[in-house]
Amino acid sequence: MNLKNRNLISISDYNKEEYLYILKLAEDFEKNPVQDVAKGKVVATLFFEPSTRTRLSFESAVCRMGAKVIGFSDASNSSTAKGESLADTIRTVSCYADLIVMRHPLEGAARVASEVATVPVINAGDGANQHPTQCMLDLYSIMKTQGTLDNLNIAMVGDLKYGRTVHSLVEAMSNFNTTFHLVSPESLKLPSQVKMHIKRKNLKYFQYTEIPDVMDKVDILYMTRVQRERFLDIQDYEKVKNSYVLDKSMLINCKPNMKVLHPLPRVNEIATNVDATPQAYYFQQAQNGVYVRQALIAAILGLK
Ligand code: CP
Repeated sequence: MNLKNRNLISISDYNKEEYLYILKLAEDFEKNPVQDVAKGKVVATLFFEPSTRTRLSFESAVCRMGAKVIGFSDASNSSTAKGESLADTIRTVSCYADLIVMRHPLEGAARVASEVATVPVINAGDGANQHPTQCMLDLYSIMKTQGTLDNLNIAMVGDLKYGRTVHSLVEAMSNFNTTFHLVSPESLKLPSQVKMHIKRKNLKYFQYTEIPDVMDKVDILYMTRVQRERFLDIQDYEKVKNSYVLDKSMLINCKPNMKVLHPLPRVNEIATNVDATPQAYYFQQAQNGVYVRQALIAAILGLK
């Protein structure tokens, strides 16, 4: 498998075999996280939008691989604030780094960046569109907790309209004969262009408005935050912001293997009394992000 110099902008840029290759590499990094394989390399993390997990787990991955990080976590400290275009910023950073990891509020910005960059670009989230590295760590977390990616029942709960992690995960899991259980308010249903990935593979999906309707059916309960920053009208956000709050008492009839995942950050959609239950897996999921991002960096830099 050769992923050297490959961009990762949408999860569909890689195929099923390539996902599995990254997951295998991540498993190796989990067993042996400190590997100096990227010594002398420079990775740029350009975050035009806030982040805790994605940026810091990428930077942790880089440090553990013996490489160095440059970049910014607030574009107002970059020449963007002086009016520099995204294309010029990316052309310039290509001169300083071997790999660019970029988060941007605009859908399609990462694709534009990849078209002008002279080094590979990894999309760390572009608006409500895609979050492919989160998807890879979600796949890793599902594989670790279920022992397989095949033939699972997965519930996606919350903001299925704007949740980019959901969009990437639906696309990826459509390769594994998944049955999807989509739980959302009417106004935050999964967009039809994302449902197309399910339909193209002739897979089943069911739509619900309440969490208890899926609790005894699923192997994974993938909770998401209502994405306040994507709403054009704050009143619309106010109407749906408290739609779902998963509480410990609701886990009573779940399957024995069921795990609760969440890309995080959470606001109020998972009560803290769930954190100590055997079903809670979201902080381990965040930790898995380091191993998966080590794997991606190693593969894209041609080091593994
Ligand atoms: N899951 C995720 O993207 O988290 P951050 O926004 O903290 O990076």
